[in-house]
Amino acid sequence: MLGPALALAATHFGFPLVYYIYARRWLRRPWGVEPRENHTPTITIVIPTYNEAPLIEAKLEDIARQDYPPDRLQIIVVDSASTDGTPEKAERWARRKGAPVEVLREPQRNGKAHALNLALRHARGDVVVITDADSHWPDPQTLRKAVRWLADSSVGAVTCLKRPAGGRGVEATYRDYYNVLRLAESKKWSTPIFHGELAAYRKELLEKIGGFPTHLGADDSHTAVLIAAFGYRAIAAEDLHCVELVPRRYWRWRVRRAQHLIQSFAASLRLKTPARFKPVLYAEAYLHLVNPWLLPAAFAAAIAAGPPGWALAALGLALLAYTPYRTWTAMQIYLIAAAIRNLWTKE
Ligand code: GDD
Ligand code: MN
Repeated sequence: MLGPALALAATHFGFPLVYYIYARRWLRRPWGVEPRENHTPTITIVIPTYNEAPLIEAKLEDIARQDYPPDRLQIIVVDSASTDGTPEKAERWARRKGAPVEVLREPQRNGKAHALNLALRHARGDVVVITDADSHWPDPQTLRKAVRWLADSSVGAVTCLKRPAGGRGVEATYRDYYNVLRLAESKKWSTPIFHGELAAYRKELLEKIGGFPTHLGADDSHTAVLIAAFGYRAIAAEDLHCVELVPRRYWRWRVRRAQHLIQSFAASLRLKTPARFKPVLYAEAYLHLVNPWLLPAAFAAAIAAGPPGWALAALGLALLAYTPYRTWTAMQIYLIAAAIRNLWTKE
């Protein structure tokens, strides 16, 4: 009986394909917001750090290269008990450059979101921009390009499109599919997935939602979802690119990321959200929470179906030689591993 295996496989591959085709149509829509070129609100940039000594200077240099009025910019490094001298390094850099970097210290490590909330209490800007130490903004106009979207009062949060540094095969292929979806969802209304490399929020909205969520991993994405739930748009902009360094412990890192997204989507389903956000939120929640499991289910059903099923399973394995398919399969495995790992640790 090949029926169940085929049905499971068709759903597993069909749903994301149909969603992608649909989403591509949203890409042709107008934004429906009015970004303003010379919009220069006061900004607080926050760099959370935990043992980032090898990277912190390059990160501060990167920010110093931004073309933005210095008197409208506050830079905060918020460190949580690094043991490698990260905050001292940031302070030395600031003294050397005469740059007004404020270094905040948490006496112990309680996670990125917890540190961001401390920084939020010290933020003077109308816009708060979070950026991870292991990321970089290739374009000196990045900040300007980000905040110009916030000139429109309907936009509450803005993020970048992502490129991996050095472009590892799997990571790079995945990003092509991924960035199209982020952009399309943003044009439709809002995307539920934000990036730690650049996430800009209206400060008043951060305060309204009670700061960054500390009870789950994806502080950036979940904050975007909460802002969208409030009725504001949370968008990834087409002219905003950021690069993240892909760590050497790739597998661990991917699973942890997937864990965070699963936590965010599971929590999102309990929120009351605007009707125009629902199609995107539910499709993404399905893709992260349910769809991955159909793949091993299809495989198991094929094995159970006897020789014709074995042929189908063999085809499924042979296709792994094809990069996009392999990338996809790897993502599904990360999501499944992440859901299982979430049972005993949220980190
Ligand atoms: N202050 C502080 N305290 N900073 C921290 C802590 C902490 O406990 N833990 C991590 N950080 C800092 C890191 O030093 C880095 O600058 C940034 O937060 C992101 O940490 P990574 O360890 O690089 O996280 P990631 O790459 O796995 O995940 C990132 O991207 C995800 C998806 O875009 C983070 O930004 C996640 O929050 C995000 O969900
Ligand atoms: Mn990182």
